[in-house]
Amino acid sequence: MHSKKTIWITGASSGIGQGLAQAFIEQGHFVIVSGRNRQALSELETMAPQRVRPLEFDLSEQDFSLALPARLREHTDTIDMVILAAGVCEYVDRPNCGLDLYRRVMEVNFFAQVECARIALSFLRNSELRPQIVGVGSLAAHLPFPRAEAYGASKAAFEYWLDSMRIDLVSANIDVTLVSPGFVDTPLTQLNDFDMPTLLSLDEACQIIVKGIEKRKRHVRFPRRLSWSLGLLRMLESLWYGILAPRMSRNSKL
Ligand SMILES: NC(=O)c1ccc[n+]([C@@H]2O[C@H](COP(=O)([O-])OP(=O)(O)OC[C@H]3O[C@@H](n4cnc5c(N)ncnc54)[C@H](OP(=O)(O)O)[C@@H]3O)[C@@H](O)[C@H]2O)c1
Repeated sequence: MHSKKTIWITGASSGIGQGLAQAFIEQGHFVIVSGRNRQALSELETMAPQRVRPLEFDLSEQDFSLALPARLREHTDTIDMVILAAGVCEYVDRPNCGLDLYRRVMEVNFFAQVECARIALSFLRNSELRPQIVGVGSLAAHLPFPRAEAYGASKAAFEYWLDSMRIDLVSANIDVTLVSPGFVDTPLTQLNDFDMPTLLSLDEACQIIVKGIEKRKRHVRFPRRLSWSLGLLRMLESLWYGILAPRMSRNSKL
């Protein structure tokens, strides 16, 4: 039997965040679901109107966080777990593209996540259920991929930040779980126009993530075969940079 928790999930309107929201709603927890897509959030609410609260906002708006603490407080004073699953992916088609693309990706995938965690902290401190921060990074941060200069850098920054926070939050008894998925079938990857090795279904991915969260793992990297292959290629870097990665790359349009 699970203790009933209060969980706040960003990126709950689609893909991985939505799958996790459904899983935790089905387990009977009180879940605050965030994203921009009001209709998708309302559909989650219909699963358990007493225990699901939509909290809609746009992470790319400069002042998105100003009213957030008060809006959260309308629903709860305590959060036991925050899941930071919101994210965007934009590929760099021109290596000399301007900073705007980098800023858009970093804004949502790094700065907004840090800000949500910062806001969640004051609610997590009230938890009596061993609070937990869960962040969704990416295996893309573990090996450089072509056209992933912005996305990979944003995920690498987020992953490093979470790993550092884990150390700084030990004295506050707040656990940090970093989830690094490979390819998962979601609206985000459905836009990809290249082969995705070891692509997992959303269900498979969410089962792995939920298990890892419940075990309070520091790192949930999956699928294991892809994670290990990337680790090995990192060691054999001349094979990666010399042969495999250039095959995946397109001709540079400088
Ligand atoms: N799918 C994969 O293979 C894969 C692999 C590695 C890592 N990841 C990471 O997993 C996370 C979830 O990705 P996904 O594949 O599930 O993608 P997705 O289906 O596109 O979901 C992305 C979520 O982020 C939210 N979001 C994006 N921009 C936002 C904004 N400006 N303000 C508020 N919410 C925003 C979206 O909500 P709205 O559209 O409603 O705003 C949506 O709920 C991301 O961090 C992604 O980088 C995914």
